[in-house]
Amino acid sequence: MIDARQEAERVAELPTRVVALLNQKGGVGKTTSTVNLGAALADAGHRVLLVDLDPQGHLSLHLGIDGSTCGEGTYELLLDPAVSLAAAIQHARPNLDVVSATVDLAAAESELADADDRHGILARKFAEAFAGGARWDYILLDCPPSLGLLTLNALAFAREVIVPMQAHFLALQGLGRLLETVALVGHGVNPDLRVAGVLLCMHESQSSHGREVVAELKRFFNEARGSAVAWSDATVFLPAVRRNIKLAEAPSFGQTILEYAPTCPGAMDYRTLATRLVEDWRRRNAPARRSAPAREESARATHRRRKEVEATVEVIESGSPPVPAATVRNADGG
Ligand SMILES: Nc1ncnc2c1ncn2[C@@H]1O[C@H](COP(=O)(O)OP(=O)(O)O)[C@@H](O)[C@H]1O
Ligand SMILES: [Mg+2]
Repeated sequence: MIDARQEAERVAELPTRVVALLNQKGGVGKTTSTVNLGAALADAGHRVLLVDLDPQGHLSLHLGIDGSTCGEGTYELLLDPAVSLAAAIQHARPNLDVVSATVDLAAAESELADADDRHGILARKFAEAFAGGARWDYILLDCPPSLGLLTLNALAFAREVIVPMQAHFLALQGLGRLLETVALVGHGVNPDLRVAGVLLCMHESQSSHGREVVAELKRFFNEARGSAVAWSDATVFLPAVRRNIKLAEAPSFGQTILEYAPTCPGAMDYRTLATRLVEDWRRRNAPARRSAPAREESARATHRRRKEVEATVEVIESGSPPVPAATVRNADGG
C-alpha cells in the first residue's frame, strides 16, 4: 500500500491544480465541497490551499477559524499591496492551508472599483508567491454567490472551474449564464481557463426529475466535445454528493466531514471525488503515450531500418553497388 508521504512524493512533479468552485447561486454546495474536497485531498497526502473569497467567511468558520481574530486574510491580500500571500496564510490542518475571509471583504468590490488591473490582483499575489518558491498540489477557491470582482479575481487566477449545483431544471438555466461568464473571462484575461465540470451536491438519485437533468447536462457537454468552447471537455463528476445531514452539521462544530463523521456517506463521497480528481490530474499530466497503431508503425519502421542497415553492410562487404532502400522495403513487404 502507498502511504501518504509516498503518494505526495509521487505527485510532487505535477503542476499545481488551481480550481475555482463557482456558482452565482448561494446554497448549492460550493463551500461544503471546497472544505471537504480540500480535507480529503490533504488527508491523502497532497498539499492543499483553500482561499475563502466569500465575505460570509463560511469556509473559515467551517474549519473553526475566526477570520476576525487571526490577522490578515483575503481582504488584506487583495487591498494592501504590502501584504504577501505568505502573510495571509494560516495552517489549518496537516497539509491544509487557508486564506480566510471576514465580512470586511464585502467592501473590497467597491474599494477596488478604480484600481488598475483589479481583476488580476489575486493572480499577481500568487505569481509572486510561486516565484518565491511557494508550492501546493491543489488550490481551491471558494467563490461568493455572485459574478462580481471577487469572482473575477478567482477566474483570472484559476485554470479550471468546477460548478457545484443541484440537479434541478432552474439550475440548468443558471448554468448557461455562468458558462457565458467563464467564456468572457477566458477571452479577456485568462485564455487557459477551462470548465472541468459540474459537481452535483445534495443529490437525490431516486428522483426521476434529477435523472432527467443529469441526462440533459451530459447531453449538453457531449455536444460541446471537440468545439472551441471552455467546457468542451467538461464532465458531470461522479460520484454525485448525496444529501447527508452530517455534511450540514459538521460546520457548526468547526470540523471537516472527515473529522466529524469520517464514515458517513458524505465523507465517502468527498473522499472518492478527491481520488478521482487526483487520478484525472495525473492522467492529464502523464507524458503523452502513443496509441497501439502508432506503436506498431514505429516497430515496423525500426524493423525496416534494421533491414536497410543489414542490406547496406552486405553490399559493402560484397563490393557490389548499393541496393536502393525501396527495394529492401518492398522485399520486406512493408
Ligand atoms: N450533500 C449535502 N447534504 C446535506 N446538506 C448539505 C450538503 N451539501 C451542503 N449542504 C448544506 O447546504 C447548505 C449550503 O451549502 P454551502 O456549501 O454553504 O453552499 P454555498 O457555499 O454554495 O452557498 C449548508 O447549510 C450546507 O451545510
Ligand atoms: Mg459558500
